[in-house]
Amino acid sequence: MLPRPRTLALIAAAAIAVGAPCLSLAQTDAVSKGRLLLEANCARCHAIGMDDESKHKEAPAFRVVVTRYPPDNLAEALAEGIMSGHPDMPEFVFEPAEIEAITAYLGSLNSPGK
Ligand code: HEC
Repeated sequence: MLPRPRTLALIAAAAIAVGAPCLSLAQTDAVSKGRLLLEANCARCHAIGMDDESKHKEAPAFRVVVTRYPPDNLAEALAEGIMSGHPDMPEFVFEPAEIEAITAYLGSLNSPGK
């Protein structure tokens, strides 16, 4: 039966096309996904926006954290469990796609004009 493999190839091609949308769109998606992840996991202690206050007085605002560490270093740290050094902070484990989103969001905090 011929049609089958061909259908599969078409599906694969479509999947590749969907998986590679225009870069800026992907970037925007990652930034908002990253913000959601931080809101869900970190916002009860850290300030995550441009002008909010950290709820935990010792937790630095992320907009300050990103001036201390390049987002890529943070990505690595998140992957390995950055949290262990901080007694008050639970340890988080993120998937690579989540880490990408988080660093995209953190990077956006650090971009000029925002
Ligand atoms: C229960 C409160 C709490 C939560 C939730 C929390 N943190 Fe923290 N975090 C802290 C505190 C307190 C510190 C500062 C501790 C210190 O300096 O030893 C800190 C420090 C950090 C630092 C290091 C800053 C530096 O300059 O060394 C990073 C990065 C960080 N947190 C990221 C995160 C991320 C990402 C999340 C969510 C995934 C998160 N934190 C969730 C309390 C928290």
